[in-house]
Amino acid sequence: MKASDVPCPDWMQQRLKFHGSQVPLSTFMEWALHDPEHGAYGSGHLRVGTDGDFVTSPSLGDDFSALLALQLIEWLKVLARRHPDQLLSVVDVGPGEGHLMDQLRPHLAAEAPDLIGRLECVLVELNPGMEARQRSLLSSDHPIPCRWSALEDLRAAPLVGTVIAHELLDAFPVERLIVRNGALQRQLVKLQPSDQGPGSLVWADGPLPEALATQIQQQAQRTGLQLPPMGVDNGWATEWHHAVEPWLRQASDAIQAGMLLVVDYAMEASRYYSARRPDGTLTAYRQQQATGDVLRHAGEQDITAHLCLETLLDSAKATGWTPVGQCRQGEALLALGLSERFTALQQLPGHQLDEALRRREALLRLVDPSCLGELRWLAFERDADHDGPLMATPSRFLREPG
Ligand SMILES: C[S@@+](CC[C@H](N)C(=O)[O-])C[C@H]1O[C@@H](n2cnc3c(N)ncnc32)[C@H](O)[C@@H]1O
Repeated sequence: MKASDVPCPDWMQQRLKFHGSQVPLSTFMEWALHDPEHGAYGSGHLRVGTDGDFVTSPSLGDDFSALLALQLIEWLKVLARRHPDQLLSVVDVGPGEGHLMDQLRPHLAAEAPDLIGRLECVLVELNPGMEARQRSLLSSDHPIPCRWSALEDLRAAPLVGTVIAHELLDAFPVERLIVRNGALQRQLVKLQPSDQGPGSLVWADGPLPEALATQIQQQAQRTGLQLPPMGVDNGWATEWHHAVEPWLRQASDAIQAGMLLVVDYAMEASRYYSARRPDGTLTAYRQQQATGDVLRHAGEQDITAHLCLETLLDSAKATGWTPVGQCRQGEALLALGLSERFTALQQLPGHQLDEALRRREALLRLVDPSCLGELRWLAFERDADHDGPLMATPSRFLREPG
């Protein structure tokens, strides 16, 4: 992990000095991403899209949302039958620019007109700067109404519906763990003062706090994870998503009955916590460039870490979610009809050639295994009124393409 002598902006220097000159990576990420004045999302500096800092699937165009809508409708129709008198909610947590909801609403209305009048969209956004952009994109003049809420507020009257966490959890603050003499320590971000100019940021080691050690030990026991894994060298480092389980609990408290779809970068524990991955998965994005230099440009770049599939599934079960299934984005979109959309592009009239080429390129990027096709789709279900195992709700994205 590159991070020696990274220049530190003034605001971050002051913040660090006030907190004793060193903090865990999770605190650094919290400030760098969510500080309301300086944070990448908090200030609204960061832009999602082809002309922004990084792309996500819905920011490439409408085809992703059109396919996802088919899956949501399948779930919503089941929920509509099981809960005939209730409003159905489509909740997007961490909506970014709001592209996904903006595109989903017309598809939901067109493909499931019978649900109009029973449907609402709920956006859950942490940062007011991002929420303002979402509000200006999403017109209030649509038969499916939109509102903004916090998960904690939804707890008072839990919803029936679907929750989407699309590229949300990989941007959660993480703890950085490092092996020293065979044992785990927690890495810290430290301000190194300089006589010649502004201070710089370096990594430092600190003890593993007891609560974190216990969380890792308990989850490792439940999942059969070995952390640190056998045979790793001194200095082997990785990430730990301590904030995902509390979020899953909040999401579960907000839902009386329904589905959760997590779409995110994730990998099996055997690949994540492996001697062959000595430096973890931390990556920063800015101006369409990916870098391992996550301490640089604090407040101007997105900082992400992949999820571990086994710990995510374990945390979901511990917080009231029943796993339904998971696959790679490429497989999910093919099952939802991506090839048919691809073929239909060839039927577009000649004067729409530019559009056909743009959409063809976007469809290829969505399934490219070295790019967005590597994203995992994981579905979970929940019914607070139902004791015991749930009947797996049918999920077209998990079926073989027809
Ligand atoms: C990587 S962007 C995701 C963009 C969007 N889902 C998309 O696919 O285009 C992360 C978004 O999640 C928001 N966010 C981060 N943590 C959050 C949290 N705990 N609750 C709600 N929103 C959050 C950020 O402000 C930002 O809007």
